Amino acid sequence: MPAPIAVKPLKKRIAIFASGSGSNAQKIMEHFKNSKLAEVALILTNNSEAFVLQRADNFEIPTHIFNRKEFYESDRIIRLLESLNVDLVVLAGFLWLVPQNLIAAFPNKIINIHPALLPNYGGKGMYGDHIHRAVLAAREKETGITIHFVNENFDEGEMIQQFRFKIELKDELENIRFKIQQLEHQHFPKVIESLVKKMN
Ligand code: GRF
Repeated sequence: MPAPIAVKPLKKRIAIFASGSGSNAQKIMEHFKNSKLAEVALILTNNSEAFVLQRADNFEIPTHIFNRKEFYESDRIIRLLESLNVDLVVLAGFLWLVPQNLIAAFPNKIINIHPALLPNYGGKGMYGDHIHRAVLAAREKETGITIHFVNENFDEGEMIQQFRFKIELKDELENIRFKIQQLEHQHFPKVIESLVKKMN
């Protein structure tokens, strides 16, 4: 009888969209660098100046820069993701609304991280310091991050997980920004890993 052939499970493949610095993308690339479960296959950006491109180069991960026409008026990005066998699309600081054709091509396979406790402080224009300033102005007692599936509206898809902390009286914009970023870096890669584990 021939010896059984050991079948190595294929790694799940992640594509990350980012528009700017990409510190979350960095944490995800670090997390999966030596993983047996998943790998980052591609970094995509709408911004040719984005620092995330440098970060991707450091990890020798391919990049793709696109413009509005390509994103909203063609299927090229979908075809690119499919040709690379991408299983999960991660938005990490990506500022454009995802078009319907991309959502339909990856049902329940596109996730986003938002630096507030949705459904509060979401929607168009609610990003970065705009959010933290609004949270402080409203004298909220707590804030945090939301990881959620993406649908055709900004910040409205089904929630996956939230992480929160209490706002102290002494907290100002800088501390809130810092604590949010720490929370994102700590949790986002792990949440992605748990989603990947559930994929078959
Ligand atoms: C993060 O706060 C994320 O929640 C939001 O955009 C920011 C991206 O930061 N969607 P970075 O580019 O990963 O540093």
